[in-house]
Amino acid sequence: MAAIALVSRPANVLPKICSSCSPAVLSAACVSTGQQRKLHHAVIPKGKGGRSSSSGIAATVFGATGFLGRYVVSRLGRMGSQIVIPHRCDQYDLMYFRPMGDLGQIIFMEWDARNKDSMKRALENSNVVINLVGREWETRNYCFEDVFVSIPQQIAKAAREAGITKLVHMSHLNADIRSQSKYLRNKAVGENAVRDEFPEAIIMKPAEIYGREDRFFNYFANMRWFGNAVPLIGMGKKTVKQPVHVVDVAKAIINAVRDPDANGKTFQLVGPNRYLLHDLVEYIYAVAHRPFVPYPLPRPLYHLAAKFFAMNPFEPWTTPDKIDRFHITDMKYPGLPGLEDLGITPSTVEQKAIEILRRHRRFRYLEADLEDAKPAKTVNY
Ligand SMILES: NC(=O)c1ccc[n+]([C@@H]2O[C@H](COP(=O)([O-])OP(=O)(O)OC[C@H]3O[C@@H](n4cnc5c(N)ncnc54)[C@H](OP(=O)(O)O)[C@@H]3O)[C@@H](O)[C@H]2O)c1
Repeated sequence: MAAIALVSRPANVLPKICSSCSPAVLSAACVSTGQQRKLHHAVIPKGKGGRSSSSGIAATVFGATGFLGRYVVSRLGRMGSQIVIPHRCDQYDLMYFRPMGDLGQIIFMEWDARNKDSMKRALENSNVVINLVGREWETRNYCFEDVFVSIPQQIAKAAREAGITKLVHMSHLNADIRSQSKYLRNKAVGENAVRDEFPEAIIMKPAEIYGREDRFFNYFANMRWFGNAVPLIGMGKKTVKQPVHVVDVAKAIINAVRDPDANGKTFQLVGPNRYLLHDLVEYIYAVAHRPFVPYPLPRPLYHLAAKFFAMNPFEPWTTPDKIDRFHITDMKYPGLPGLEDLGITPSTVEQKAIEILRRHRRFRYLEADLEDAKPAKTVNY
């Protein structure tokens, strides 16, 4: 029966044939084919496509505990996938994942990025690996090179050695070896390292991502705590941004996983409109019903202030690198496929900004009409 399912399965449902079945993931019996290959029934697609059906995907999502991770796990769970979440945090901090999938479909595993065995264990029963590991600042334990080059390379290597056919790696739209941002330079190196290690990897290059828990719209909106004045290099009139909504990025990852033709491709994930940073931040303040008082701050002075915040041993509010990254104009890649090629119509900032910015409003404006905020001017350069 399993052998029939294996042969007749459409290409987009990703069979993973595992030689050993871990008791944690595979509590039910594995099914043997004539060639002694084992296929767990949980990865045979069945059902109508809801959370209690089986999508045929058993995915390990590295970096699931971050901003984007919850959206990806939620989408995987609601279509009936098995999800392994390697984590390094306390298990109580993972509770919010539990309702995202059917009973027993979300499996938590402790992992240490420097321990190759824990990495192997995390993906040994999966047929899809999604790497969302990232960090906006360097720590004493992990520099950008570790997070954006070494760890992705190790994951790609482990995935290839485990015989996995789908690897999704998150890069950045502006990843560039000549960038003034160290984050973006390392993203570029990481992209190549993953491609070398796993040529069929799907590389996603999103612009800045916005959503409820983001560090982009919320970052600018929170600047009101510093006396309502928003520092922008060159008043933000030399920087063009094309932010993308987090749900569109999560959908893109899932659609790429399901699309057999996506293997080996690089996708650019951008919103439908380009804005001057100044106009975008002005719109953020308009939606938040807060006065917008921008002022030009020279880069060295801005860096100096950011260095002070960067000394925070926990989560620095900003860093010099983040300031550079936010003031880099989003690149255009006319040759790369995008959201539309994955069957997604990108949401506009005007549709989604209120979800993020309502909480930045004063009580008396909580329910104020969105029409009061004039949409930001778009540019096409
Ligand atoms: N957010 C954006 O605007 C944006 C834009 C373009 C590209 N990207 C890329 O998209 C990916 C996901 O972004 P995100 O915003 O969701 O990132 P995030 O919120 O910073 O989450 C990063 C995840 O990586 C994990 N992680 C970081 N360092 C680690 C380490 N040394 N060992 C193990 N795990 C580690 C974190 O685990 P802990 O929770 O344990 O710290 C967390 O789960 C990243 O690669 C990011 O660079 C993001």
